[in-house]
Amino acid sequence: MADKCICVKDFEILAAKRLDKNALDYYKSGATDEQTLKENCTAFKSWRFQPQVLRDVLNVNMESSVLGSKIAFPICIAPTAMNKMASHDGEIDSAKAANSLSTGFVLSSWATSSIEEITTNVPDVIRWFQLYVYKDKTVTENLVRRAERNGYRALIVTVDTPLLGKRYQDTRNKFALPSNLTLKNFENETTKEDGFPKGVKSARESGLAEYVASLIDPSLSWEDIDWLKTITDLPIIVKGILTAEMALEAVDHNIAGILVSNHGARQLDGVLPTINALPQVVKAVDGRCEVYLDGGIRNGGDVAKAIALGAKAVFVGRPILWGLACDGKRGAQRVLEILRDEFGVTMKLLGVTSIVELQSVHDLVIHESRILSRL
Ligand code: GLV
Repeated sequence: MADKCICVKDFEILAAKRLDKNALDYYKSGATDEQTLKENCTAFKSWRFQPQVLRDVLNVNMESSVLGSKIAFPICIAPTAMNKMASHDGEIDSAKAANSLSTGFVLSSWATSSIEEITTNVPDVIRWFQLYVYKDKTVTENLVRRAERNGYRALIVTVDTPLLGKRYQDTRNKFALPSNLTLKNFENETTKEDGFPKGVKSARESGLAEYVASLIDPSLSWEDIDWLKTITDLPIIVKGILTAEMALEAVDHNIAGILVSNHGARQLDGVLPTINALPQVVKAVDGRCEVYLDGGIRNGGDVAKAIALGAKAVFVGRPILWGLACDGKRGAQRVLEILRDEFGVTMKLLGVTSIVELQSVHDLVIHESRILSRL
């Protein structure tokens, strides 16, 4: 059946039939009314292409890079938690999919495969580690050390989660990680109190919300980011910035990269869709660090819009989960191939043959409100 999927939407529909309710609702939910969840996708539609024609587009080069790591095309796998609810090998499948196509993969702190398992099973994958900062700094520091030892090339620090956003379906389902799975990065963890919860257990409300409330540091501030910089040489990317003001603070703190993200619309509902937040961040940063985007990418045209508006690469989350749920590694790989190929077609139809050109031709992508205001 997965062989019949020719676009991301096909994978989404099939995955919804395959996943159980606890997992499907967890993966697909946004926060509260899910306004931003919908807009993350629909906002792309208001950005319009102004293509060039009569350009020689016989050969197109989609190569890009993230902090110096070369990727064959600018679409990487975003960190998503608990991939083993979607496929038997979970994050290992995702990492293999990225590796087979020479692009990058981000492992979530809350993965069901460990930092070390990715390195053992997919040693060549370009990988980054998504870090949550725990109240217990020794837990945080352990994660950093393991990422360093295991060939991860940067830390992607999530900064939009002092507590978990309200996700109604997870509350109704009393979301819990199935009992055969664990948050693998913490299996051997013991803390000062020696009571570190190893999983996301059944709860009064959402098990994950309770996990976050008990362990994740709600006092996270730039001081902690500066502290991280003192304990590691890994470059730091901050994930969860949506405004020019915050982007300028990141630049002041010498951050290597900004991932424009609203956490898949799972944290604060009502924030801008990421594609609409991207231009102000790119403008504020003005080349002083790399900028990437996640949220709402569902086809190659969306990728082209984000890259043309200044993202160095995009990261995709839910589409990969749908691919995993449909056909494990093959499904995730197929989703990436589809997005890559659609992106290539879009570049050709825009009359550009490289990422540099896509980013430098004036107004190749423009918000429709600007076109209409000229009439
Ligand atoms: C994990 O990061 C989540 O949003 O559930």
